[in-house]
Amino acid sequence: MTEPNRSGKERGLILAVETSCDETSVAIVENGRHVLANMVSSQVDTHKRYGGVVPEIASRQHVESITLMLDEAVSTAGIRLSDLSAIAVTQGPGLVGSLLVGVVAAKALAAALRLPLIGVHHIAGHIYANAIVHELEYPLMALVVSGGHTELVHVEAPGRFRIIGQTRDDAAGEAYDKVARAMGLPYPGGPHVDRLAQQAEPGEGTPMPRAWLEADSYDFSFSGLKSAVLAALNSAKMRGDMIHPVRLSRGFQDSVVDVLVEKSLRAAKEFGARQLLLAGGVAANRGLRDALTARCEAEGLPLLVPPLSLCTDNAAMIAAAAYLKWERGQFTPLSMKAEPLLSLEAWSV
Ligand code: KG4
Ligand code: ZN
Repeated sequence: MTEPNRSGKERGLILAVETSCDETSVAIVENGRHVLANMVSSQVDTHKRYGGVVPEIASRQHVESITLMLDEAVSTAGIRLSDLSAIAVTQGPGLVGSLLVGVVAAKALAAALRLPLIGVHHIAGHIYANAIVHELEYPLMALVVSGGHTELVHVEAPGRFRIIGQTRDDAAGEAYDKVARAMGLPYPGGPHVDRLAQQAEPGEGTPMPRAWLEADSYDFSFSGLKSAVLAALNSAKMRGDMIHPVRLSRGFQDSVVDVLVEKSLRAAKEFGARQLLLAGGVAANRGLRDALTARCEAEGLPLLVPPLSLCTDNAAMIAAAAYLKWERGQFTPLSMKAEPLLSLEAWSV
């Protein structure tokens, strides 16, 4: 039996745009789950030569890529624009110039097609990337670890977010990138440090401090650890000693992972979470995945991790989060602005 030909309004067919940092992405997703297209154009090769994202260059590249990504998403999905139910876009947080390109493109589409517009919080997107591939059960605890964020988010019910802990300085991915840069590894450094750390034997890592902060705190701090790695590198250089990137990477990674795993498990327990969700670019980290998998298994807590393609920035996750608002008819006016400091809690449904 074939599916009846339903209209876009009933299908919940959302076209989403993500341009918050250095990926230009457009996706078309049905009912927040069924990904028909998820085109991502990464600017990594451009920013590599500067050792990090250059905001002005990022915005210019978004301008160059956005139309092409839109065309490709529509043709890959095999839909007509008239099939769409809504247009979603990352409203914030992110680089203001980059966000603006996506916001302007999304507004233009929404106005031309007379469709509702949905501004989406980037971190809600990272969390709801999990909903594309897993059944979520509430209350849940989400550990969001990316280049710009390190947060523990209590999600009591669909789309209801409460941040219970966050970094007081560097984000986990940012610390990875800075440590990698000091070791002469290319940008983004996280995957390189991860790869080196995997090559160390257990116990071979250079001993590094762990920032537990106050006993009851769910906050994080990675700048002391980053400084410890830089100090180890500098003193080795000054003494003319050999630098051991494998041992240093392992010591650094063990410290990051220990603190992330310990605090996530404690938070999940205290808030009665039925699942622990991992989200954001650093969710690709092998050491973190392995340690969380082992601890969650031991504690009988289901761990949800999105596939790698949905961990790093992409527009399918923005469509998945937008669906929460679309179902409730919560739309954003066309006067919407890009909000580099948008609050996740305020974005709750
Ligand atoms: O979520 P994302 O794509 O962009 C932001 O919203 O920030 O995350 C990018 C971050 C970068 O800092 C990158 O180094 C880090 O994720 N990353 C990793 C790994 N893969 C990506 N960090 C550690 N281990 C990895 N395997
Ligand atoms: Zn991100």
